[in-house]
Amino acid sequence: MCGIVGYIGNRNVTDVLVQGLKCLEYRGYDSAGLAMRNNKDLKIIKSVGKIINLEEKVKGIHDKYCSGIGHTRWATHGAVNELNCHPHSNANVTLVHNGIIENFRELRKELELIGYSFKTDTDSEIIAALIDSYKGNKYDALIYAQMKLKGSYALVIMFGDEKDVLYAMRKDSPLIVGVGNGENFIASDISVILPYTKKYIDIEEGEIVKVTKDDVLVYNESGKVSKDVKIASWTILDAQKNGYEHFMLKEMNEQIDLCSKLYNKFIEEDNYSEDIPDISKYDKIDIVACGSAYYAACVGKYLIDKYVSDGSVQVNVDVASEYRYKNHFYTGSSLLIVVSQSGETADTLACLRMANKSNVDTLAIVNVPSSSIAKEAKMVMLMLAGPEIAVATTKGYFTQVLELSLIAQKLGYIKGTIDESLKNNLISEFSNLKSKITSLYDLDYSSIAGKVFDKEHIYFIGRCLDYVLGLEASLKLKEISYIHSDVYQAGELKHGPIALIENETPVFCILTENEIFDKSLSNAIEAKSRGAKLYLITTDEFEFDEHYFESIIKVPKVNDFFQAVVNIIPFQFIAYEVANKKGCDIDKPKNLAKSVTVE
Ligand code: F6R
Repeated sequence: MCGIVGYIGNRNVTDVLVQGLKCLEYRGYDSAGLAMRNNKDLKIIKSVGKIINLEEKVKGIHDKYCSGIGHTRWATHGAVNELNCHPHSNANVTLVHNGIIENFRELRKELELIGYSFKTDTDSEIIAALIDSYKGNKYDALIYAQMKLKGSYALVIMFGDEKDVLYAMRKDSPLIVGVGNGENFIASDISVILPYTKKYIDIEEGEIVKVTKDDVLVYNESGKVSKDVKIASWTILDAQKNGYEHFMLKEMNEQIDLCSKLYNKFIEEDNYSEDIPDISKYDKIDIVACGSAYYAACVGKYLIDKYVSDGSVQVNVDVASEYRYKNHFYTGSSLLIVVSQSGETADTLACLRMANKSNVDTLAIVNVPSSSIAKEAKMVMLMLAGPEIAVATTKGYFTQVLELSLIAQKLGYIKGTIDESLKNNLISEFSNLKSKITSLYDLDYSSIAGKVFDKEHIYFIGRCLDYVLGLEASLKLKEISYIHSDVYQAGELKHGPIALIENETPVFCILTENEIFDKSLSNAIEAKSRGAKLYLITTDEFEFDEHYFESIIKVPKVNDFFQAVVNIIPFQFIAYEVANKKGCDIDKPKNLAKSVTVE
């Protein structure tokens, strides 16, 4: 969603801000703007639509600036137009804001009563006036704003009467300071600073940060705080396309090396390493997430229920936006697992906080090490996937499934439901996973895409693990190609959904499970008898009459603990190829944001 960049130093401020905003594009936005300072004045430039529009507007500016702030806006309060676009100024204060101020209407009325007037419909302009309204020093004004504001914010603030300083503070929305040599950066996303520095400082809630070109001073209610300067483990190359046409394609390809990276991290001397959390002491486990991460959680539940549990552990999964409004009857040995690539998804974070408040143990499977979820969970299993830039997750989902599978395997091994010989087989399969998935990268997905890209509806069917996989396959297709698609349990087809099948309706049949192959196959044939065109994803172990199908993709058969990560690869490629044929904006699909930081 919205993104922030701030810079103070000797480089060309306009260039740093525009490049920074470009790094933030992937998060989703509808307008963008900059505010820049020099000795004489403060210049604000805004534009609706892509950053390139803003770039056009700043081309003619040759003034030298010493500091500036920039913002990509994803509208929440007020229409998408230049007026509502950030930065916002009121009186002596100019700022950019990520987040939502819940009490902005009350604050607006209070401020209007004391003479402030407002040009925009945004909650953000109120913050500028609120800070300005405090009669005292700047630090106290920011503390005052922290006390008055309800909701979430990451803010970078410039005062009209102090030209060489940027101030920053945050609550429930990420913000870091990038530490340079004679220059400093502020950003909502680490990828912004990577072209210039790997050193950064985390800003904690309640802190106020004063940034000049040579110093980063951090204060909280007890006074000056000494902060650790951290070193980012991600590099600028991780955050670039490296010759791939799209980030999505690059990230799908990175899954191959992620197999070995995760193997080396989580397997030690032919055993599950200490880095895989031991969750055997819990008898009630809730797994909570949103979107694809939720579908990964469904795979985790399936594996524990079917192959690991001896009846002593009950696993529930829920989408975070539902879970947070339900009653939870935690026991003394309950665990909440949250799964999140970004580590900032508002609903998932809210569930984590709820559980932390109830003193329930929490475990986060999370990709961004500096994210709120990574910082606030009691236990953390990092996904190690590197920056994921394409809005539609691929390597994020892949890693989440793999890590949940490893947690399940270790749990089964400790509980004794996975014996020594099965454990050895699983670890050996894990070491071969890279070669198994690599074989799927050269298949011809383009011809399948060519047969379905002009259809209005596409359906997926499968049972059990195949059904759970269909959820992610269907989401991937709809979010980047905008084709309506849905997934049904194969056995449910004739209880209603088969009414949707018309002549030539494409139905992707996921049939990779031995026990249920024949049953699902006959459900698929029932759809074909009503006119469906069938596309089959199966493993190399079955024999069947191939003439029912338009195309057949055979994935390598692996143990069910790894089958989901193998099976997803063809669906990522099919979605990608379909979207490509339709000319869609694959990395930045319409209406979607990478990190959903509002409810
Ligand atoms: C789909 C997708 C989303 C995310 C969801 C959760 O391709 O990317 O459904 O999975 O928004 O995001 P994180 O994992 O960042 O919490």
